[in-house]
Parts: sequence; C-alpha cells; structure tokens
Amino acid sequence: PIIMTQSKFIHQDHLSYPFEERGLQFGDGIYEVIRIYNGKYYLFEEHIDRLFRSAAAIKINLPFSKDDLSNLLLQLLDKNKMKTDGKVYMQVTRGSAPRDHVFPIDVLPNIYAYIEDLPRKLENLENGVNAITERDIRWENCYIKSLNLLPNVLAKQTAKENGCYEAILHKDGLVTECSSSNVYLVKNEEIYTHPATNHILHGCVRMAIERFAHELNIPFHEDGFTVEDISLADELFLSSSTSEIMPIVKVDNTQISTGKPGKVTKQLQAAYEKDAH
Ligand code: PDD
Repeated sequence: PIIMTQSKFIHQDHLSYPFEERGLQFGDGIYEVIRIYNGKYYLFEEHIDRLFRSAAAIKINLPFSKDDLSNLLLQLLDKNKMKTDGKVYMQVTRGSAPRDHVFPIDVLPNIYAYIEDLPRKLENLENGVNAITERDIRWENCYIKSLNLLPNVLAKQTAKENGCYEAILHKDGLVTECSSSNVYLVKNEEIYTHPATNHILHGCVRMAIERFAHELNIPFHEDGFTVEDISLADELFLSSSTSEIMPIVKVDNTQISTGKPGKVTKQLQAAYEKDAH
C-alpha cells in the first residue's frame, strides 16, 4: 500500500517517526475518516472543511490549501488503484520535537493518510444493532476531531463487552452522541438530535441526513433527547462515515418499539443509498 505523508507518496513500510512525536506523547493532533464507495470519496468537501476547522481550532497551520489536499487525496486513490468500498484515514499532529507541553517553534506538522478496504455492514444496516448508555466524560471541545479518544475507546470497549455495537453517551441524562457516531431519536415521524454545539462532533453524515430530511419533508429538530426518552422512542438510529445510517433496535437490553428498523430510518437509508452511489 502507498500512503501519503508530508505531501509525498511512499510505501507504507517506509513511514517512520522519532518516538518524541506530539501525537504519541500528547495526543496533540487531529484526524479525519472519509468513506470511499466504488473508489470515490463520499462527502469529500465536508470532510476537508472539517479537517481545516479542527486544525485551526488547535492552532496547527496546515502546509497546503484545501485544493492541494483534495488533489493529494485523489492521487492517493489513483496510486493504490482503489476501485472498491473503503475509507481513508488521515492524521495531522503538531510534529516531532523534544517533549515539552509548550508548542515547539519552527516544527512542521506530521501528516499521513492511508486507504483501506471497508465492506459495507449490510446485515447490521438491515436488521439494526444494539447499544448501551454510558456517561459522557469527555471534554468541552468535542466538535474538534481530536486524537484524544480515550473516553471514546473506553465507552466502545464497554459496549463490546456487553455484546453491543455502540455506546450512547449522555451528560446528566441528556444524550449527546455515541462513542464514534451521532445518534437520533424518531417520535411521530419527526427526528430529534443534539444540536451541533461544542458537545458533539458535527458529523458529515449528520449534515447529509439533515439535507435528506429536508428533501423528504421529515421535520429535523436540533433538540436533544434524554436517556428516559429512549424507551418511548418509535425509532432510534446512529450515523457515521463507517456505519452509514444504522438502526438501533435495543438499548440497555430494552427493545425499541417493534425491535425492527423503522419507517423514517429506512427512508433516510434509501436517500443515503441514492446520494452515495
Ligand atoms: N468517527 N461522533 C464521533 C465522536 C465520531 O468519532 C464520528 C466519526 C462521528 C460521525 O462523523 P462522520 O459522520 O463525519 O463520520 C460522530 C469516525 C468514523 C472514526 O472515528 O472512525
């Protein structure tokens, strides 16, 4: 596999960093994950825009323009002869320097991007998945796609240990998002989700869902819901670049409504299918 690093292309095995690397020592960096369908990026501009927003938010100056980066990522597809479904993972850290909390001077960010096959989770998309609820113990700047994912990792592991696909996070009962996805409740064919504040990552698929809802005349409320509301929901679903629009049919061992993916969720999935293919 060929990876992109510092605006160049090299074989993956040739990437090496000194151990004093700020991403490793401080989690001092940001990342993006972009979905690839049939060898093409989906919601490409949205992801590029968010990468630049995340970098600016932590005061990293990217050494290229949005157009330059788009070109590099397109070349990455070409160089790997990518034709299937997959994802690109891209990471930017503040760079390599002797360990010191203060920003290093005149150090360039470390950048790499690689692509990987990622088949669609068709069975989960059709039947739905289970989730647990967990306290959201993250920081105040969750809109930044930061490398600091320890609370997310721990929540997802707890979900896994309980036989579940995701952990739905809540602050004092108010649902924010999941460990690596956004989450939505449907009641009376209207969608509710936490507003796009600093407490959640503004998902690119979330943006697409807002657009689909508008096109389908389904009310989309940026109004949070609580853990208690979940048991009364007609439908529940999550979204992310890797999971798409995924029905949730059971939460904390309690079945949601009929225990099958609901009407609004399926309408949105159909709209996604059309948009992405
Ligand atoms: N995660 N919220 C969190 C905390 C996330 O980590 C993600 C994405 C999302 C959904 O964002 P988007 O629709 O832009 O993919 C919401 C990626 C896929 C990851 O960390 O692997």
